Amino acid sequence: MRSLDDLAASGRTVLVRSDLNVPLATDASGQPVITDDSRIRASVGTIRRLSDAGARVVVLAHLGRPKGEPDPAFSLAPAATRLGELLGREVVLADEVSGPAAHAVVAAMSDGDVVMLENVRFDARETSKDAAERTALAGEWASLADAYVSDGFGVVHREQASVSDIARLLPSYPGDLVGAEVAVFTRVLTDPERPYVVVLGGSKVSDKLGVIAHLLPRVDRLLIGGGMCFTFLAAQGHGVGRSLLEADQIDTVRGFIEEAATRGVELVLPVDVVVASQISDTAETQIVPIDAIPDDLMGLDIGPESIALFRNRLADARTVVWNGPMGVFEKTPFAAGTREVALAVAAIDGMSVVGGGDSAAAVHLLGVPADEFSHISTGGGASLEFLEGKTLPGLAALEETS
Ligand code: 3PG
Repeated sequence: MRSLDDLAASGRTVLVRSDLNVPLATDASGQPVITDDSRIRASVGTIRRLSDAGARVVVLAHLGRPKGEPDPAFSLAPAATRLGELLGREVVLADEVSGPAAHAVVAAMSDGDVVMLENVRFDARETSKDAAERTALAGEWASLADAYVSDGFGVVHREQASVSDIARLLPSYPGDLVGAEVAVFTRVLTDPERPYVVVLGGSKVSDKLGVIAHLLPRVDRLLIGGGMCFTFLAAQGHGVGRSLLEADQIDTVRGFIEEAATRGVELVLPVDVVVASQISDTAETQIVPIDAIPDDLMGLDIGPESIALFRNRLADARTVVWNGPMGVFEKTPFAAGTREVALAVAAIDGMSVVGGGDSAAAVHLLGVPADEFSHISTGGGASLEFLEGKTLPGLAALEETS
């Protein structure tokens, strides 16, 4: 891959693909408010660096999943405002994705200016399965600029016009965020300091099969919590009551349990769970050992003995990758497992990596100090696919063009 250091940015128009897909809520007056601006904060570095170097920076980004046409509910306006605040300079938002309005905004730029085009997903060609359609849209952007910088790590797993196709049309460079994310995930896949512990959670084991398969040959310990642990517990013969269970994955999971034993990987499962009859902030809870989950209740968090066990198995780790909450952390009665495991991961003396998506959201929601982790990924699906060893179209396109 080229390096951003090689881009002579001064006076050039540079397209920067960022991932500004931030969660929004609505305030009392009906205005959208960003509830977690981490992805915008993570994107500022590359944009500021290029702007300071005298580039005319045109930011491409998406928000949510609009249906391929303009929809004010998915406007990037809040993201443009927040980016401007963080940069300390105005970020003009063009109200079109491409076309005359976008051209006019770019034509009016001076060196160092930063503008943003509207949500790239307002144009159906962005996510089209037809490469010719995507390339046509990418070509419209390419005609505006001299270079492309890929900095939206959260979207590099997407084959989309602003992610992969555009990289084939302009001299293309990884941004600093993409560079940092790729360096961290490459390190944990190829050269982790040991003991190397991976903590997986989240609701569905079927989402994590590829990650488990790719990581089992690499790790020393695998700790499993969250809804996905119940398929492991069922594979070991435990009754799981009304807990999440993917019965069709029990054989696959049994295969993982056997493979872990053969490889000498320590597989650590919860020994107790917090159970309740409903998922609510006022649910009545009980703590039960995993061989005594009542038939009519659901396990919704790991219990205190499991927290102590997980803490113990994390304490001497030199590398930890954590992906997926330990329970339904959004509800107070089921938040302790995720909070305590997050704190234990943050406390290790070594490299602590938080996969994006729900785990990053949990860190913010539960008030765990974010700066105590070595790295919190901005990629949800992208970080998982990286850990699965998949080829990520956005990165592959950058490599092809270098
Ligand atoms: C994400 O939120 O993981 C990224 O922004 C990608 O969004 P997508 O899943 O809608 O492609």
